[in-house]
Amino acid sequence: MEDLYLGWIEQLRKGLEQWGSVKVPGKYRLVFIAGMGGSGIVGDYVAALSNVKGSIPVLVSKSHLVPNFLSRDDLVFIVSYSGNTLETRIAYEKIAEKKSRIVIVSSNGLLESIATENNLPFIPIVKGIAPRTALPHMLYAILGVLDSSGYSIVSRDEAVDAYENLKNNMKEAVDKAYELSSFIDEHKGLPILATHTPFEALVVRGKNEFNENSKIPVKVEVAPEWMHNDIVGWEKPFENKYSAIIIRDPSDDVGSKLVDFMKKIYINNNIPIYELELHGKTFLEKLLYGSLVLGLASVKLARIRGVDPLVTENITLYKKDAP
Ligand code: PA5
Repeated sequence: MEDLYLGWIEQLRKGLEQWGSVKVPGKYRLVFIAGMGGSGIVGDYVAALSNVKGSIPVLVSKSHLVPNFLSRDDLVFIVSYSGNTLETRIAYEKIAEKKSRIVIVSSNGLLESIATENNLPFIPIVKGIAPRTALPHMLYAILGVLDSSGYSIVSRDEAVDAYENLKNNMKEAVDKAYELSSFIDEHKGLPILATHTPFEALVVRGKNEFNENSKIPVKVEVAPEWMHNDIVGWEKPFENKYSAIIIRDPSDDVGSKLVDFMKKIYINNNIPIYELELHGKTFLEKLLYGSLVLGLASVKLARIRGVDPLVTENITLYKKDAP
């Protein structure tokens, strides 16, 4: 499965090739993105990028529920790698009734057929890989549509730079992933992925990767919200084993001070710490670099633990009997 992560450069190249292939010009009130798991997190990334530098509000739903206020004035992305996820299909049906402008991002399945039958804009994603490993392609698919439809969050030039940055930092990402997987394996217990805003989506993504690939639970802690709740939880925690992975943007002085504060509390609790600095000039570059390190580390940890990173048995069980 490592090869699927090492293939991210190729996915970004494909995303750049498709950039602008789908345009949905019009005047929209907001962008809404629906998807689950490895597809839903793409919405979180677009929303985080838009908070930093967007021109239109981006809302995300990782559920079968959709907000009542959606209307024909809204632009909606339905994202499902397989094209078959039940919650995402239900969300699609509900949104279609509201007559919002819909774009489908998928590699296959029922949603691809729905796009064809209803003549909806469709962006085909590389086929035959694990949904969560298709993150870069699905992300560039949405960013490309927005950029070429007058709602740019990331320009094509910035997307090219992010592709170059990931290519240049590939070797370092592999080395860091190796160190990180060994660190988590050495300390066992519950790993905490700790960071500062605006990198919450990155640590949620990391959590999901360690859940699905390495088969372990993970805790997420994000400053400065951390300073208003988690911080008190560390006053008298149960005697469990923890390890902390502190992720920071070295160019963000406030963010760095916040995670230094977290670090002190972890040290007071005798929690071992691994630190990861995000490389890149832009937020997008940092997000992609961090995602690659965490994804590769989760696969390496799976190998160390002797579990198959590709198989997500409990998700399959749930999907078979989803209510
Ligand atoms: O990465 C995975 O395998 C999961 O998190 C899936 O993304 C999730 O179950 C939703 O499936 P899909 O992405 O096909 O809609």
